[in-house]
Amino acid sequence: MIPFFDYRPEIAPIAGEIDAAIARVLASGRLILGPEVEAFEHEFAAWVGAPDAVGVASGTDAISLALRALGIGAGEEVLTVANAGAPPVAAIRASGAIPRFVDVDPESLLLDPALLERALGPRTRCVLPVHLYGRAAPMEPILAFAARHGLAVVEDCAQAHGARPQGHHAGTRGAIGCFSFYPTKNLGALGDGGACVTGDPALAARLRRLRMYGFDGDRVAHVEGVNSRLDELQAAVLRVKLRRLDHHLSRRHALASAYRRALEGSSIRCPEPPEPAEHAWHLFVVRPLDRARAIAALDRHSIGHAIHYEHGAHRMEAYSFLGYRAGDLPQTESACASVLSLPLYPGLDDRAVTAVAAALREAE
Ligand SMILES: Cc1ncc(COP(=O)(O)O)c(C=O)c1O
Repeated sequence: MIPFFDYRPEIAPIAGEIDAAIARVLASGRLILGPEVEAFEHEFAAWVGAPDAVGVASGTDAISLALRALGIGAGEEVLTVANAGAPPVAAIRASGAIPRFVDVDPESLLLDPALLERALGPRTRCVLPVHLYGRAAPMEPILAFAARHGLAVVEDCAQAHGARPQGHHAGTRGAIGCFSFYPTKNLGALGDGGACVTGDPALAARLRRLRMYGFDGDRVAHVEGVNSRLDELQAAVLRVKLRRLDHHLSRRHALASAYRRALEGSSIRCPEPPEPAEHAWHLFVVRPLDRARAIAALDRHSIGHAIHYEHGAHRMEAYSFLGYRAGDLPQTESACASVLSLPLYPGLDDRAVTAVAAALREAE
């Protein structure tokens, strides 16, 4: 049995440090917005290479609060992709804004910047590229397009801790980068969590207000805020895990290379290996000729798998009011019909990669 994801082998060697971090919080008398969150914000910002980080309750909240901090809201449009499932779309809607979808590049499955111009409308305010599967979206043309039209750029880095194209960590080129610490992510908490990174002190201050009812250190709402806080326990655990993150990322790279080697010469389409720094290998997503057959073979061998994502957000029931029809985003729809995610996490061993590849070859 090879599970699709298992945090236990990653946690086992650091269980003592995690226990000590939890004990430290319990003894501190402070459970919400205290020294652990503050220290984690500094340490995470430094690791990413951003001037500031603001801890929030989830990656979804990080995006919706980022949009709100930029003054983007009701009736205004945000350009994004539909192949990252519901979360970025739910986040855009939580801010009151409206998602407008841009199709993806057929190879990288990331936002295709050549299609931005035709998605632009009079109410467009922002571009939200998603660094999907851990691979950095092409920021140069996205930033150039945004600058030409006076739009903000907010980066969805929920899957991209560790992607550093041309030396810039994902999330540090746009106005705000939004991270998730959902347990499966490259840096996962023992529950929910998220953070915004930014180089603009005014935006950081607005985000700190928004995450706490619009307060300013007092108990008066100066702007309409929400309750979206990273808690002390999660921050303390994340501090321990952050110290191992580079090591875990190199294991992800090694596993991705091992998958590519093991599937070489097969009909299974593997992701192109970009420059190593461009990819943080959150997911290893293949495109078999016959996905149902590949899934049946993995099931026969008790190998976990997942689909990220089976349905484009543009065709989900909740978003039917946006008016998209089948065929509107052909590359997105073709990706949704063919992608298959294989197990990939730091605790996975090399024998598992061999077993997964053998099962997939059986289904060719
Ligand atoms: C691409 C993407 N964006 C946003 C999110 C939202 O993160 P969270 O689950 O922490 O709210 C996720 C995670 O589910 C994601 O994968």
